[in-house]
Amino acid sequence: MTKRVAILISGGGSNMVSLVDSMTGDHPARPVLVLSNNEDAGGLAKAEARGIPTAVVDHRPFRGDREGFEGILQEALACHTPDIICLAGFMRVLTESFVRPWQGRMINIHPSLLPKYRGLNTHARALEAGEAEAGCTVHEVTAELDEGPTLGQARVPVLAGDTPGTLAARVLDQEHILYPAVLRRFAEGDRSPIYLP
Ligand code: GAR
Repeated sequence: MTKRVAILISGGGSNMVSLVDSMTGDHPARPVLVLSNNEDAGGLAKAEARGIPTAVVDHRPFRGDREGFEGILQEALACHTPDIICLAGFMRVLTESFVRPWQGRMINIHPSLLPKYRGLNTHARALEAGEAEAGCTVHEVTAELDEGPTLGQARVPVLAGDTPGTLAARVLDQEHILYPAVLRRFAEGDRSPIYLP
């Protein structure tokens, strides 16, 4: 049966677009919701333009009350009965009580070659460390930040003169290839990792 996919974003949503645009034809999944914690997220208009239902759950009124925020998030998701959640540039840390019921059905893309550089500013940290290569990882979401079984990884070279911005752009191009490839496989029930290139 076709899998229903909710995509959570906070910003421009370029990964969301690559996922949505991949779910056509004989793809085993379809997008049913794009949800953002940020009403100004550029990705919301891109989802609307593609006819995907959107929702906003603003985290700011829940300052200090993560579980209150997640309760409303859960309700907004439940309206659309997703089978799979894709975090795609969703910049909120989720608590164990939210993650646990979704474990095995929620995946994330992170802009580093995990387990290196969990958290923020991954590209600046990779450059500072003098890495010869960088990349991105899609993984199952578990209660630990940026951990969980790897479902795919794509590598790019670090080039002389790279800035965090130039490196981020090179990695993002790979994210747009890796994430749809992993989602397709994951929706088919195959969790064997994909390594690109
Ligand atoms: C992507 O590079 C994604 O890997 C990263 O945010 C960017 C979102 O871009 N995610 C994280 O840093 C999660 N910790 P997008 O909105 O254009 O897809």
